[in-house]
Amino acid sequence: MQIPDIVIAIDGCSSTGKSSFAKLLAKELGFLYLDSGALYRGVTLFAQEEHYISRMNIIRPELEEALQTLPLRFNSDNRTFIGDRCIEKEIRTMEVSAQVSPIAAVPYVRAFVDAKLHEAAAARRVVMDGRDIGTTVFPDAEVKIFMTASEEVRARRRYDELVAKGEYPVMEEVVENLRQRDYIDSHRETSPLCRAADSYLLDNSDMTLKEEVEWVKGLIRGKYTIYD
Ligand code: DC
Repeated sequence: MQIPDIVIAIDGCSSTGKSSFAKLLAKELGFLYLDSGALYRGVTLFAQEEHYISRMNIIRPELEEALQTLPLRFNSDNRTFIGDRCIEKEIRTMEVSAQVSPIAAVPYVRAFVDAKLHEAAAARRVVMDGRDIGTTVFPDAEVKIFMTASEEVRARRRYDELVAKGEYPVMEEVVENLRQRDYIDSHRETSPLCRAADSYLLDNSDMTLKEEVEWVKGLIRGKYTIYD
């Protein structure tokens, strides 16, 4: 499928399956995949390890200063690094999930992540997922998708994901973490999670990944009148 140099923005609540969908879509289109949440998670891990966050208190001036030289980046196969250290596994734990939303609500952190995303997406041809890609980071994205799924489906996905990683999650805690993150993400002052007016809604509660990808490919074919 011959598509122009466009940005595909995928937003939605936690555990709606954004990253699996975005990853597969990028692969099929030959686009770069960028996981913006991984950068917020990377900042959170850094803040925890360097004690810029204790319980829910963020020591903002120190964290903001430290971010100025933090070498947070993606490598060529999309894994998240701080300098030479791969942090892909550490950023997906419940500990990081529990503190990432307050960190992502700090305006300075958002500006830091936005700058990294713009740098990585300079050539466009990217599929990017997050909470505010279509509204704030790339308001000019050519294709915007807002993903949703029932709470039950989302909690089950998150639970299975944690089990697959060797963790021992408690379902009630998983549901509570999802609700808390949704609440903080949609009520923060700086670029809260909300659906862009010009986005397409994708409820994938009863869809397979393959169906989702076919759905968006159909949409892109229609938009750019592509016949192959
Ligand atoms: O997609 P995720 O669960 O890995 O995202 C982790 C956190 O980062 C999530 O709680 C909200 C925040 N986030 C954000 O505020 N804006 C984005 N564009 C991406 C993620």
